[in-house]
Amino acid sequence: MKILVVGGGGREHALCWTLAASPLCHKLFCAPGNAGIAEDADCVPIAAEDIDGLLAFVQQEAIDYVVVGPEAPLVLGLVDRLTAIGVKAFGPTAAAAELEGSKGFTKDLCAKYGIPTAAYGRFTEAEAAKAYVRRQGAPIVVKADGLAAGKGVTVAATEDEALAAIDAAMADGAFGAAGAELVIEDCLQGEEASFFALVDGDFALPLATAQDHKRAFDGDEGPNTGGMGAYSPAPVMTEALVEETMASIIRPTVAGMKAEGRPFKGVLYAGLMITAEGPQLIEYNVRFGDPECQVVLMRLMSDLLPALIACSDGVLSTFDLRWYEEAALTVVMAAKGYPGGYEKGTVIGGLEAAAGNSDDIKVFHAGTKGGENGTVLANGGRVLGVTAMAPSIAQAQARAYTAADKIDWPEGFCRRDIGWRAVEREKAAAVD
Ligand code: AMP
Ligand code: GLY
Repeated sequence: MKILVVGGGGREHALCWTLAASPLCHKLFCAPGNAGIAEDADCVPIAAEDIDGLLAFVQQEAIDYVVVGPEAPLVLGLVDRLTAIGVKAFGPTAAAAELEGSKGFTKDLCAKYGIPTAAYGRFTEAEAAKAYVRRQGAPIVVKADGLAAGKGVTVAATEDEALAAIDAAMADGAFGAAGAELVIEDCLQGEEASFFALVDGDFALPLATAQDHKRAFDGDEGPNTGGMGAYSPAPVMTEALVEETMASIIRPTVAGMKAEGRPFKGVLYAGLMITAEGPQLIEYNVRFGDPECQVVLMRLMSDLLPALIACSDGVLSTFDLRWYEEAALTVVMAAKGYPGGYEKGTVIGGLEAAAGNSDDIKVFHAGTKGGENGTVLANGGRVLGVTAMAPSIAQAQARAYTAADKIDWPEGFCRRDIGWRAVEREKAAAVD
């Protein structure tokens, strides 16, 4: 098959690296890709949101299958457009991508189908939103309804903070059209966890568990980011919790979406709060997490491509995926300043030394591009995902940092404590 992967981050590098190894894939393209992806795929300079450009390329190259990485082209209807010209694709239609594209849509779906989530209100008027905050009191969470690149959520400790967040979104337009409508919801208490399942419209197959670290600095401090590292398995997601999440959240969502005439196909990524009353849904994403995808695919033993195609074809229930027992851990190296302003174009050295010749270490590229004479240049906020596999999370962590320390990039930084919670759980289990 001739395959096109859409996107150019670490997630898409992991997807390309995995798909390139499939015996079913005889030609792999990536749009737009990055310097690391260029080793596994032919990169074509078409932006992930350029739907017309992507369609023209798919027709010109007679692509057989398209795998969409990021949410933006899904919400823009790339899969619908491909389906309309008879090209199969992995990912939800625009109508199903509303699960990520509109937080209000998802909350209403939860209310209608009895899916556990925080109590909420939807608002298009600032005054009504403020009255709701005054009535509910703090802590309270204010969210832009639409896609806001992970920046649209304020967990407000005080009423004043919540009122300011309402003004920022509605009066100042901080999130553009995405903030014209707000969801305001109760603050949930517990430990956060992520959950991923492949879905074919009817049937959901859980993937290996994984957890990311969203804050920029050690100790889970500092501003929110796309994710500074991840590990798999995630010990917080015990087998019992996986089953409870499937029963109370994932299966009712898949059934509800089908009943609403918006069958969901693709990866359903649930952000959960594990509360005293059980798992509650914080939000849905309609794609693989980045960098969770990197650790999950590192552990995948089966061929990914037939599983993705089974989602598109609605035959996933006949499928089973096999995983390596080992743990995987990714340390993200980001440009200094991220998630605020940062420099681009700095030179990254030591990539080959970091990877060594071990199958258990892989340096996935996120924001990179090729420079002169084969150099690799930083070209984004999150730049690399140094990934290692080992018998335990603690050993994978040690291996990943040994590799990361071989990278020569003074303009970059990484957290030094990725996986800390899981490492502590391993230690506690060893003592028991
Ligand atoms: P989201 O983009 O919806 O995942 O929100 C970003 C972050 O805000 C989450 O990862 C949580 O840490 C936090 N958050 C969102 N909603 C809630 C909530 N209802 N209660 C507590 N924390 C929340
Ligand atoms: N790692 C979080 C995300 O992909 O949204």
